[in-house]
This record gives sequence, structure tokens and C-alpha cells, in this order.
Amino acid sequence: MPSTQAHEISAASRLEHVRYAIRDLACVADEVVKQGHKVLPLNVGDPLNFDFQTPPHIIEAVYKAMRDGKNGYAPSPGVPEAIEAIRGEAGRKGITTVQDVFVTAGVSETVDLCLSALVNPGEDVLTPCPDYPLYSAVLCKLGIGLNAYDLNEDDAWQPELADIESKLTPRTRGIVLINPNNPTGSLCTRQMLEQVAELARRHNLIVFSDEIYDKLILDGTPHLAFAAVAPDVPCVTFGGMSKNYLVPGWRIGWGIVSGEAAAVKAYTEGVHRLLRARLCANHPEQYAIRPALEGPQDHLIEVQRKLRSRRDLTQKWCEATPRVSCVAPRGAFYAYPKIDIPESDEIFVKELIRQKHVMVVHGSGFGQKPGTQHFRIVFLPDEKTLTKAYAGIADFIRERYGKAVVSVNAR
Ligand SMILES: Cc1ncc(COP(=O)(O)O)c(C=O)c1O
Repeated sequence: MPSTQAHEISAASRLEHVRYAIRDLACVADEVVKQGHKVLPLNVGDPLNFDFQTPPHIIEAVYKAMRDGKNGYAPSPGVPEAIEAIRGEAGRKGITTVQDVFVTAGVSETVDLCLSALVNPGEDVLTPCPDYPLYSAVLCKLGIGLNAYDLNEDDAWQPELADIESKLTPRTRGIVLINPNNPTGSLCTRQMLEQVAELARRHNLIVFSDEIYDKLILDGTPHLAFAAVAPDVPCVTFGGMSKNYLVPGWRIGWGIVSGEAAAVKAYTEGVHRLLRARLCANHPEQYAIRPALEGPQDHLIEVQRKLRSRRDLTQKWCEATPRVSCVAPRGAFYAYPKIDIPESDEIFVKELIRQKHVMVVHGSGFGQKPGTQHFRIVFLPDEKTLTKAYAGIADFIRERYGKAVVSVNAR
């Protein structure tokens, strides 16, 4: 007789701390949509939700690859012409000590593989606070305790070196840099990269430098790759197609391993074991990597022009709005304003969706210094949409909290 009693299948307890606030808010938005309202989505970093188009020549390349029968499994590290093109890109980024290149299903998979290949139980990796939440999610999945270092809002969100030093333990194996940064839009200075490199040398760390937004610099300064500044330090530079080439749905990313060959050999072999175990990254899409990296880059001029104008509008709004202040973003398409309110930023964000139908993400979803509150804006929408959304947020702040700044958060 089959038993009729249902037994609950529990999820692993180490998943308890896995959160992805960016998508978790969708439930609140669904309520509002069910009531017949349209939500202004300033929460997800997908340019294709807005007026940005994939360069047609890279779509053609994938179409051709499919027609040419590139529909089976690819080699685990990636197809040779893509790997060669990424090596060329590493050269243009000034990385001179490339030891290995591999292609993944988005930078998300690079993050997963690179962290999984590094840490043993009881060890840790330093991650920024605030951070892109995938890093802490993967570490939780691996059963690794989080060890976050602060980004200093008063120093344009640069990593706080003294905090990094104080968090280092003999069991710390690596450090994550996100540059340009999500959620703050900041860029690391050369001096900062040099100081992190010095720490990495002294403490035998590998650096994971997430540079997925490296072509989306908004103030005309060249992007500085960590591995170019510190060619001797073991490093994996993360890059991908999602943002720079406007194809987040294709799931194409990569890792560039650099440093001294002997220092990264065993670790790279570990990464390749995992690459083989998961078979391969999306196959036909890999044929877009060479035309993307080596072909016309014209779309970037238009993307940067739009983003600069939307960043400026965002910054002006932040400066003009009571209770809001913001370090001006210099790269990517995120702003991370501080907000001075007498309740949690999670309540602020949820009520904002319910009352004004504008969706941003609360700072507590990324991490922030205790006692501070923030929210992340994605400034991808056009100026008209942003203006409407910002008017809604300003009204909400005035109606709910009044104009007066009461707490110690004011800057
Ligand atoms: C800093 C950062 N790293 C990695 C990713 C994941 O990118 P992908 O689409 O390549 O998986 C994102 C996506 O928003 C990101 O912001």
C-alpha cells in the first residue's frame, strides 16, 4: 500500500542565508501588477528591458554557428576561437601574464567555479560590503562563513584597507574586487589596486577581479584591470558578454587566470576539473565572442552616451531630494544613494512599490554599514521613465517621512 502521508522534503540548512533581494522583490511587484498597475522597474540590470539593442553582427554570428551545426557539446574550457579572442582581449586590457582562459555560462558560473575550486571548509574569502549578492550566495552554498570587508562611502566607495587587514585570518584564501562596482557604480583607483595587490602578496591570496562592466565607464577615464596593475599576483579576471555586448540571456562569461605560472598551476587544474564536470558553456553563443571583442564597438558609444545622460539625471535628482545623498557613479548603470529614514530600507522599498509602483532594491539586500540605509537604482530606463520614477520616489519620501532630516545618517 503506498503511504498517503506527505513528508516534507526540507532544503539544506546552509541555504538559509542565500538571498537574492533583486529578484525576491518580485512577489511584492506581482501583488501590485495583479491590482492592475504598471510597475516601473529600476531594479534589474538588464539593458534589454529598455532602449538598448544587441549589435546585429553578433546575433548573425550565433545564427551562423547554429546553421553550421555547432549545436553539440563544446570543449569544456570553451571553443578555441573564443579562447583566442579572450586572450587578445586580455592583452588589450594590459594583462601580460595570462596562464589560462576558460568560457562559462555567464560570469555567474565563473564566480561559482572559481570560489568552489578554492575554498576548503573552515577557510574564507573576503567579499565587499555592499556586494553583488551572488558571491555570498555561492559561499553559503559551499558552507563557507562570510567574511565581508567594507567599501567606504566617504572615500567614493573604495575598499577600506584597514578593514581588510583587520578581517584577514590565516585561513583567508582570496579577495573579491568588483570594479566597476555593482551596486555602487564606483571604480577602484590605481593606488587602491596597488595596495590590494600588496596585501595579496603578503598574505598569499588569489584576487578575483570581477570586471564585467569594464567597457561601461562613464567619465572618460580608462578602466584599470587589476591583473594589469599586478601581473605577478595570482588573479582571475571575470568578464563577459551580458552587459558590454547587451546579451544577458545568452549566458556567456569567462575567466582569465594570470600571475606566475607555478603559483596558479594547481588551482587552475582544480578549475578545469569543475569545467569538465559541467560539460561546457553554451556552444553556438561562443561563436559571438570573437566578433564581439574584435569587431565594431560602435554600440558602446551610444550605450555610454545614454548612460552618462541618465547617470547625470539620477545624480541631480539625488542632490535635489531631501533625505537622499549619493556618491556619483562612474561606471556600470547603478547608483546607490544613502537615505535618511526612521525605518528599514526594506520597508521603504516594499512600500514604495505598493504606493508608487516604482521598484528599486533595498541596501540591506547588498549589505551596508550598520546604522546606514541605502537603495540601489538601475538607471537604464530612458529619461522620461526615470523622471517619472524619481518624482514618485520624491513624493513618497515627502508624504511618508516629511522633509526634515532627523537621524545621524545625514551627510
Ligand atoms: C558584478 C556582477 N558580476 C556578475 C554578474 C553576473 O553576470 P552574468 O550575466 O554574466 O552571469 C552580474 C550581473 O548583474 C554583476 O553585476
